[in-house]
Amino acid sequence: MRIVVVYGSHKAQGWRDALGAQLREAQIDIWQPGFTEPADFAVGWSPPPRFFIDQPKLRAFFSTGAGVEHVLNNPNLPAELPIIRVEDAGMGEQMVDYCRFEVLRWMQRRDEYAAQQAAGVWKPLDESHREQWPVGIFGLGVLGREVAKAFAADGYPVNAFTRSNTTRDPNVRLFSAVNGADQFAAFMQATRVLMIFAPLTPATQDKFDRHTLRLLPRGAYVINVARGGLIVDEGLLELLDDGHLNGAALDVFRQEPLPAQHRYWTHPKVRMTPHTAAVTPMGPAAKQMAEKLRRYAANQPVTGLVERARGY
Ligand code: GLV
Repeated sequence: MRIVVVYGSHKAQGWRDALGAQLREAQIDIWQPGFTEPADFAVGWSPPPRFFIDQPKLRAFFSTGAGVEHVLNNPNLPAELPIIRVEDAGMGEQMVDYCRFEVLRWMQRRDEYAAQQAAGVWKPLDESHREQWPVGIFGLGVLGREVAKAFAADGYPVNAFTRSNTTRDPNVRLFSAVNGADQFAAFMQATRVLMIFAPLTPATQDKFDRHTLRLLPRGAYVINVARGGLIVDEGLLELLDDGHLNGAALDVFRQEPLPAQHRYWTHPKVRMTPHTAAVTPMGPAAKQMAEKLRRYAANQPVTGLVERARGY
């Protein structure tokens, strides 16, 4: 089996080595412009347009990340090329930690206490409890499901909005858009902390603007660990400014790195991280990918196959 690793950063070598440790039978090269020795499979992230011209014989593309718009947006992506993405591989646990940390910080009023400490003020504030913090998971894929399960086990009321309505977890209150009844508004109204996990597709682009975000109850919070394009920044900022929303924790942005003049950088209610909420762990992901590559090469079914028409 011949594999070509394509990665727009120093991580290409790491992926090559991690895959090589799992697939001793494979020949694995790192793609550079002009590398045209035909490979069977590609593994990588955000291939440059030129890549698919250099590699016309691929049987499948394996995405090292959960999101796949970085491949789908490639102008030279062959229409029929199967795309397979990494599933969880330890990212679910990282997402759980990220969301837990933010919710606890808000629930326990740590920012207010930090401000009080700085001002030398000793003043207990009203406390609240988990049952008063219904969370709302938008997008119940592999990662969203993991977070829903963890928060339900922690004792938070958990709402989830999903397109496909397939999950049957008695601890998760499911809202969906199937069968004509769009329960999106009801989902938002029942949610105190919105957590966004859905992929960026034409159906989710700009989903959260000033109108939809206003469906959240007053004093609600937003966590976005999916893609920046789901949120209309001006809408979110407007609601943070007018007091409808209390805070936002943002890991992803329309443009990354976030431009220096963007208001998020200095907004007192915004906390930012540089797209690090869940970083694909190379070892476990390479192991999973090696298994999928072997199965795929042997014409056996694999999970994580992207449906092009729906965009994930
Ligand atoms: C990261 O953003 C990923 O898609 O895995």
